[in-house]
Amino acid sequence: MRNIGSFPKTRLRRLRKTRWIRSLVSENNISNNDLVLPIFVREGKNKIEPIKSMPGVNRYTIDKLPVILKQVKKYKIPMIALFPNTPNNKKDKHGSEALNPKNLVCKSLKFIKKTYPQIGIMCDVALDPYTSHGHDGIIIKDEIDNDETIKVLIKQALLQVRMGCDVIAPSDMMDGRVGAIRKALDKNNFQNISVLSYGVKYASTFYGPFRDAVGSNSKLKKNKKTYQMDFRNSTESLREVSLDIKEGADMVIVKPGMMYLDIIKKIKDNFNIPVLAYQVSGEYSLIKDGIKKKILNEDSIIESVLSFKRAGACAIITYFALDIAKRIK
Ligand code: PBG
Repeated sequence: MRNIGSFPKTRLRRLRKTRWIRSLVSENNISNNDLVLPIFVREGKNKIEPIKSMPGVNRYTIDKLPVILKQVKKYKIPMIALFPNTPNNKKDKHGSEALNPKNLVCKSLKFIKKTYPQIGIMCDVALDPYTSHGHDGIIIKDEIDNDETIKVLIKQALLQVRMGCDVIAPSDMMDGRVGAIRKALDKNNFQNISVLSYGVKYASTFYGPFRDAVGSNSKLKKNKKTYQMDFRNSTESLREVSLDIKEGADMVIVKPGMMYLDIIKKIKDNFNIPVLAYQVSGEYSLIKDGIKKKILNEDSIIESVLSFKRAGACAIITYFALDIAKRIK
């Protein structure tokens, strides 16, 4: 620590005196450029359906997507993340709907790339929105089979890219999937498609509201602890990220975000790779609930995302993206 002098010569409050001077010396800031907005899509027509577990977040039918995309464009949010709510009758053991070129994500990709080509789109690579058991992979002999799952994930990734996806985001936590997907993309002339790995993804209860949003919660048998990370671990995150980088990841996600600021900082300090924080559904809903009950006010949203910037995240995937962009404009 450098010598900062001592009182009364030094008064730190001088730099807090006015709004303009606070802005002048601020070390971290949030801008619209730092935000990714997740969007849920559903089947049908002319519907914007509120999600009970995530107040303020809706599921959109494709024809209604412009309602939210118009705002994404207006507030210059660089990228959205697409998540499908697959009808139960299209879910099966193998998640085969993931490979249907007419599934919700594929149809949405085509629609958005045609109508809003300036908006970047990331898509999850994982089977949980499509499986009848709610797991991210294929179950063989009561286990989520790593290598069989990867075979399907490669196909899912290629399909999404063909439909217009810009950023492929494997969120399944199978070992070796980043390398396998990168290789397949390159072989198919998609050298310029980037891979954003959910490299540091903990088995968290804070995904609850999301699982409700995509309709996998009631389906999920047991938990995801055999493939997602154990939240007692920290050093393990370094191993995950170093493997992902070797396998060709362009960026990595730390997820959940708020409870894992130490991990964001650790990755940032140890690697030269852009780190994105995912402020997950449970974190969103807690803050939202606090605001609703007037225990918190709206400033808590900005405070929560600034913590990611302080920790070293370059961007934040958050359900608050539009609220934030509007607020800071
Ligand atoms: C799918 C996936 C999940 C989330 C993003 N992608 C849920 C899970 O792994 O169970 C959670 C996002 C959130 O809670 O906001 N694998």
